[in-house]
Amino acid sequence: MLIRRVGVVGLGTMGSGIAEVLARCGLDVVGVEVDDAGVARGRGHIEHSTGRAVAGGKLDLESRAALLDRIACTTTLTDLADVDFVIEAVPENLDLKAEVFAQLDKIVRPEAIFASNTSSLSVTEIGVHTARPGRVVGMHFFNPAPVLRLVEIVRTVVTEPDVISGVVAFAERLGKTPVVIGDRAGFIANALLFGYLNHAVGMVEHRYATREDLDAAMRFGCGYPMGPLALLDLIGLDTAYEILDSMYHQSRDRRHAPVPLLKQMITAGMLGRKTGRGFYTYEAPDSPVVS
Ligand code: 3HC
Repeated sequence: MLIRRVGVVGLGTMGSGIAEVLARCGLDVVGVEVDDAGVARGRGHIEHSTGRAVAGGKLDLESRAALLDRIACTTTLTDLADVDFVIEAVPENLDLKAEVFAQLDKIVRPEAIFASNTSSLSVTEIGVHTARPGRVVGMHFFNPAPVLRLVEIVRTVVTEPDVISGVVAFAERLGKTPVVIGDRAGFIANALLFGYLNHAVGMVEHRYATREDLDAAMRFGCGYPMGPLALLDLIGLDTAYEILDSMYHQSRDRRHAPVPLLKQMITAGMLGRKTGRGFYTYEAPDSPVVS
């Protein structure tokens, strides 16, 4: 499978991180956003993240410039006509993803593979909106995508076996550790993780423990790199809600019924790092906790 040029649809937190991963591996990337503000935000994420890599001595200035040059951004989906592979990373909404895939199907040549970075929706339901469901997979990255090695590769009942093996090899080429799983809500990691995160929000709601003590317990008692509340701020409370809601509607597992506090915080604009306030307060998306 020859992959040289990759389209990334959606340059939010995940899409921009994925574009960076691809460009770091020497691939040409075409990133698509809905408007110029979206493009500027996406570019800003990538510039910030690669700037950190330069500051940490992990990337030299010349390589950073070359990496940024490999990422072309556009607001026109038709600019993806000649890509070999597309990774979709638009918000977690089935109708939206279905619409993107239906449009892509008309634009991108039939041999190209379509991957969705969906975290909890059915890849089968997304893929049937194309004339190539056998060439549709899930390719689920973890946040921050440039740092975390796992990629869950989701096969549906119609995904062609050589597509799966090709995508596994592609993920390895990106320096990732792929795992292959069937099309089930939450796949492996989110199915296990989000019940725990939701439980932590319930503990805050019932004032069972302070946010600091909850996070300290999991960091220092279980060795997790972040406590559950700091992690929810990193993921984004809106994204976490969508994932929980989607898993709950598919499985009816009560552990995934979003705790009401989550919805209240979202309504109040407390989405986590991206809005400067969630369970904690931040000066900027990558800055440490202020309070
Ligand atoms: N983008 C790029 N690089 C980043 C980054 C970002 N957003 N955040 C951190 N990094 C890099 C830093 O530059 C640093 O690189 P270096 O070692 O080369 O200097 C390295 O990561 C470590 O960062 P820090 O020293 O600032 O901080 P930590 O050691 O605390 O690591 C962390 C930060 C990587 C975020 C770590 O705390 C962690 O792994 N936390 C858990 C994250 C997690 O569980 N993610 C999964 C969420 S679930 C998900 O994504 C599924 C989805 O469907 C919602």
